Amino acid sequence: MVPAHQQQRHRDLGKDRPGVPVHLRQRLDADIRQRVAPSGEPAPDQMPEPPAQPPHPVRGRDLLEEGRAGLGEPAGAERLTEPAVDGLGPLGDPPGGADEGEVTQEVGVERGEAPPGPVLLPGPGASWAAASSTTTPPRHCPLTASPTRYVANQRQTEQEAMSTHIDQLEAVIARDRSKVLDWSDKAVQPAWYGRSIAEVAKARPKLDELSTPMMTLDRRAIDENLLTMSRWCAQAGLSQAPHGKTTMAPALWRDQLLAGCWAITVANEPQLRVARGAGVPRVIVANLFLRPGGLAWLAGELAADPGFEFMCWVDSAEAVQLMDAALSAAGAQQRVHVLVEVGNSHARTGVRSLDGALRVADAVVSAPTLALAGVAGFEGSVAHEIDAKAIADVDGFLTRMVELHRRLLDRYEVRDAVLSAGGSAFFDRVAAILGPEDGTRGPVHTRIVLRSGAYIVHDDGYYRTATPHARGSGPAFRSAMHVWARVISMPEPGIAYLDAGKRDLPFDQGLPELQVMRRTGPDCATTTHPLVGHELFDTSDQHAHVRVPAGSPLRVGDVVRLGLSHPCTAFDKWSLIPVLDDASAETPVVIDLVRTYF
Ligand SMILES: Cc1ncc(COP(=O)(O)O)c(C=O)c1O
Repeated sequence: MVPAHQQQRHRDLGKDRPGVPVHLRQRLDADIRQRVAPSGEPAPDQMPEPPAQPPHPVRGRDLLEEGRAGLGEPAGAERLTEPAVDGLGPLGDPPGGADEGEVTQEVGVERGEAPPGPVLLPGPGASWAAASSTTTPPRHCPLTASPTRYVANQRQTEQEAMSTHIDQLEAVIARDRSKVLDWSDKAVQPAWYGRSIAEVAKARPKLDELSTPMMTLDRRAIDENLLTMSRWCAQAGLSQAPHGKTTMAPALWRDQLLAGCWAITVANEPQLRVARGAGVPRVIVANLFLRPGGLAWLAGELAADPGFEFMCWVDSAEAVQLMDAALSAAGAQQRVHVLVEVGNSHARTGVRSLDGALRVADAVVSAPTLALAGVAGFEGSVAHEIDAKAIADVDGFLTRMVELHRRLLDRYEVRDAVLSAGGSAFFDRVAAILGPEDGTRGPVHTRIVLRSGAYIVHDDGYYRTATPHARGSGPAFRSAMHVWARVISMPEPGIAYLDAGKRDLPFDQGLPELQVMRRTGPDCATTTHPLVGHELFDTSDQHAHVRVPAGSPLRVGDVVRLGLSHPCTAFDKWSLIPVLDDASAETPVVIDLVRTYF
């Protein structure tokens, strides 16, 4: 059962958002309640279109577990009856003397027996398909008595720890909101100096009182995006670990966790420190993590906090050895969970061949400080277009991930393995190809973890054309970020200059678009006008260059709303971002300010 105080927290979701419309809050609350309800099945009438996926025998139970796990409830309640086994616990023999044999008996598989069920997929790439099944036998360190070494879930303590961490995250956000504002953030208005974020939010200043340029978030759009993605993933049987590097905003990570996300993903050690400092309970570093000092710090964090769950990626035996040496030297008390990263020729990191991936897995199994916990990859680095070839390449890549995962089912050193992929462009393909692997096969329960991060804010550029919805096969999102800029000069016909430039706007994946103008008259009344045919064609450090069509209503002094492309390079330009109740309202008001930590 979800503890009463947590149920209350989920019931309360949205109550601290005065600008969120009641109907949306109710929908969000109902959604969360559904996730903690004993039936666990979302109401079919509220579902966006499902991804193509064959039925899976354990889906119903897993959906419930998904909801529970995302909300801090221990997944797999029946597993709580299994004896505690070493895993997240200290290296060496399991506590209480439970040995490896006992563990494998518990999960019903003879040691060395291949798990039932999996049928190997044909490998699409020659090197991958041609990989031989004979791999170097693992060297066993004295602390690993068996090639299959399961890791305890420690669900009982995790439940308490997860709830403590959400409290910690709330406390960090509350601390941020209580800090006194001053000139040091470009979003802070002189009238706000000496006041806290909470005080400013309570006063609900109007958008038209803000200086330009100014990036804002749209609370209504964020909540809709959160809800839409949570529902879609729940129906597809996917757990979410959204990439936190998009926003680097603990307040938005908190919203994602409360909407049911299972973990937060980050890209490197500094970002991990932010996630950890903010109190995120479960973090994936979707990357290699090799710095000895960083690993020593991580070992200390894991030892100090049994509720903290962590995993990162490895793609070579060298990386495994570096990690193992650093963790051993640091006297690590807990194994660090690692996923073998599948790569692609000319893409980023990741093992290029099946043989190579199996060798990396062997190296992990041989490393006393590491636990082999799954397979990961990023299909977004495989395809740069969104055409049929791109889909075929992505499908081939994901199929190779599945093949490796199936080959590792009897090697994993955890009972809950992770199979993780997914940016925001091809997550429908992740659902279709990785989705059927969800559930229990032999000794291992597989969790499919989707890392799409941009969905929470979406955009009016790259992602508008790149998400599955644009191909007619996924949920629809709405851009929740804008920059407001002022027309400061129209020095020649057909040209206008705005006071926002490269310092304020993303420009790496397409330039912003002009959407709406606002003009405040001497009587302080504001009129708005949609803008059609205006083209922002260049940016310099502090200016945007705009081509203005004949007959444009635009005048010097008007404020325009810019739709942006690529949230990752928008957020990093703003350390404090006002949150509007609704950016499309006639008179939007600021209901909060979100701090980012880049
Ligand atoms: C490894 C990895 N996973 C997930 C993501 C999330 O993708 P998106 O930003 O498209 O949501 C990224 C983004 O670059 C990534 O690099």
